[in-house]
This record gives sequence, structure tokens and C-alpha cells, in this order.
Amino acid sequence: MATRILEALNGQRTATPPVWFMRQAGRSLPEYKKVREGIKMLDSCLMPELAAEITLQPVRRHNVDAAIFFSDIMVPLRLAGVDVDIAPGVGPVLGSPVRCPEDVKELPTAIFDDASRITEAIQLIRTELPANKTLLGFAGAPFTLAAYMVEGRPSKDHLRARALMHSDPATWDALLSWCATVSNQFLHVQIEAGAQGIQLFDSWAGSLSRATYKKYVLPYSRRTLEDITVPRIHFGTYTNQFLDLMADEVDAVGVDHRTPLNEAARLVPDTVLQGNIDPALLFADQDTLHAHALDVVRRGLAAPAHIVNLGHGVPPTTDPGVLTDLVAFLHDIEIDKLEAGE
Ligand code: CP3
Repeated sequence: MATRILEALNGQRTATPPVWFMRQAGRSLPEYKKVREGIKMLDSCLMPELAAEITLQPVRRHNVDAAIFFSDIMVPLRLAGVDVDIAPGVGPVLGSPVRCPEDVKELPTAIFDDASRITEAIQLIRTELPANKTLLGFAGAPFTLAAYMVEGRPSKDHLRARALMHSDPATWDALLSWCATVSNQFLHVQIEAGAQGIQLFDSWAGSLSRATYKKYVLPYSRRTLEDITVPRIHFGTYTNQFLDLMADEVDAVGVDHRTPLNEAARLVPDTVLQGNIDPALLFADQDTLHAHALDVVRRGLAAPAHIVNLGHGVPPTTDPGVLTDLVAFLHDIEIDKLEAGE
């Protein structure tokens, strides 16, 4: 069945805008907090029934058009045997950061021993997900993964990672190749189990110049995506300077809230766009949020097709009722009428 999200990814306009939210599964939902109580983040990702339940929670509550698989970009590292944890309120933390040629050589092989818990979770989701909804899988892009691996923990500017690519390109190549293999494999596991589309998250790529992105990052993201046969969305933040490179060889590109979609459509003509409601406006009054969402949809008409999303993830303190209302508001917009200027 062609779902609305798959139609849009195929470049077709849908009668009303399709919508899902990055980080829709998680901390903004009380039912999430309840089922996660006492269970560590990465452990929860490897408990198939729990991961399936958390994936479905926002679909049930908000009526979004896509479920995004509940997991994390660090899960494939854990599956490959890397000592990694997600510390509450901090983020990904590695037992030992990867900073020199020896560290890269000591990484476990990039092949998973056993990814059956991912397969099982995805299969469970597909049996319960209504046929008009789409299950999206995802992975972290090699640069964003490497930024965590080199720093050993979250960082603002990724200084060590950005220094390494220039000072030791051979080690950088080995590390990014390892990350590309791991993320590519994570995508394949999800797709073989039933994911119908995927998103590659390069959340921190915006810290790079165009030339640096092109030389040290893009080749590895391409490698992660090259043999993927389901529709592919490529997302990053602060990516204006190389949005065209990100859009190359994928089906859609995600745009953060800093670039109006009509401007993005000029940068990447003929490309399906995803985005870009400013997450801050989830905290504004309803009229202000609705006006902003309508403006986003209007600007999205400049692209061949458009999937509504936020510019980045749902903030943890978001009132879930605001998201439910926003989905209903968007589903009431008739694209034909909007195009006719009504
Ligand atoms: O989008 C979804 O709802 C699906 C699940 C999902 C999670 N992480 C769950 C999660 C997805 C797609 C991700 C991707 C991810 N993970 C990214 C790329 C997207 C982005 O936000 O830019 C990144 C950079 C990570 C790494 C990561 N994992 C961070 C920075 C954090 C936050 C740390 C914190 O507590 O502030 C995590 C943890 C994480 N991943 C949580 C969830 C629901 C929160 C953990 C918790 O509930 O305890």
C-alpha cells in the first residue's frame, strides 16, 4: 500500500500534508516515562516488545503519519561490541574515546554478531502499525557518530573530531569507513525486517564548511546510503552551505527551522523537502503556532512534495497535547485550496 509518506517521498503531492516529528517517541510522553522507568536507554532499545510499544505510542496518541523506530544512533555501536552508554541528561558516552590510529585498530569488527532484537522489534511494529502509516528506520551518519566517538561524549564544537580529519586523514578515513559500515548494516537490518523508508541523521554536520563536508564527510554518508533500496531522507542542522550536496542521491532532504522552505527549494530544486516547524513555537500560543505551521506548508509548495516535521527533535518539555492538536490542524489543510490561494 502506498502510504502518504511514501507518496510524498516519491515526489507526489498528497491532498493534505503528511506529518511526523523527530524524537516523537520519548521523553515528552508520560506513557514513555512510565514504561521506561528503571530501564537504561540503550537496554530499552534492545528489548523488542518495549521498543515496539514506545515506537507505537506517538502514532496512537498524535495520529502522525509515520512511526520512527525507537532506537538510537549509538545502538549499532553497542551491537558491534563498543563500550558505549547513554547517560541520562548527558547523552552518548564511550568507555574509551577513539583518537589515534591504534584506537581505530582496536575497534571491534564492524559486523554485528546478533541483531535479532532489532529484527524482532521491527516485525512486532509492522504487525500493529495501521496500513496507512509508514515505519521509518534510521541511522546516524558517519560524521555525527565519529563526533561522539572521538570526543568520547557530547561536545558543542566537535573540535577533536574536526582536528583529526585534517591532521590525520588516514585515521579519519579508517574511522569513518568503520562508522559507514556499522550504520549501513543497521539500516539493512531494519529494512529487511520491515522498515519502509529511512532517515540518515547527520545532526552535527552543520559545524563543517562546504569544502570540508565534501572532502571528509560526504563520501562516507554516500557509502552508508548507496545500496539502500527504500526511500531515503537525509537530515542535518545548519546545513545551508551544502544542502545541495546532501540532497544528491537521496529522495528527500530535511531542513532545519533556520532556512525557509521556499529558500531551500531554490537551493535544491526538484527535491522533496521535510521540515521545518521551529520547535520553539510549540511553546507559543495556539494561534501563533497554527499561523507558523500554515506558513511552513505554504512555503513547502515550492518543492515537488513536502513532509511536515520540526526543524529538529521534539523538546522533552513539550506539552504532548500541543503536538496532537498540531497534527489535527495540519491534516485539515487542503493543499488544493492553498495552491488556489484560498
Ligand atoms: O525520533 C524518535 O523518536 C526515535 C528515537 C530516537 C532517539 N534518538 C531516542 C532517544 C532517534 C531517531 C534518535 C537519534 C539520535 N540520537 C540523534 C540524532 C537526532 C538528533 O536529535 O539530532 C542523536 C544525536 C542521538 C544521540 C543521543 N541520544 C542524544 C544526544 C541523546 C539525548 C541525551 C539527553 O538525555 O539529553 C540521546 C538519548 C535519547 N535517544 C533519548 C531518546 C528518547 C532520551 C533518553 C531518555 O529518555 O532517557
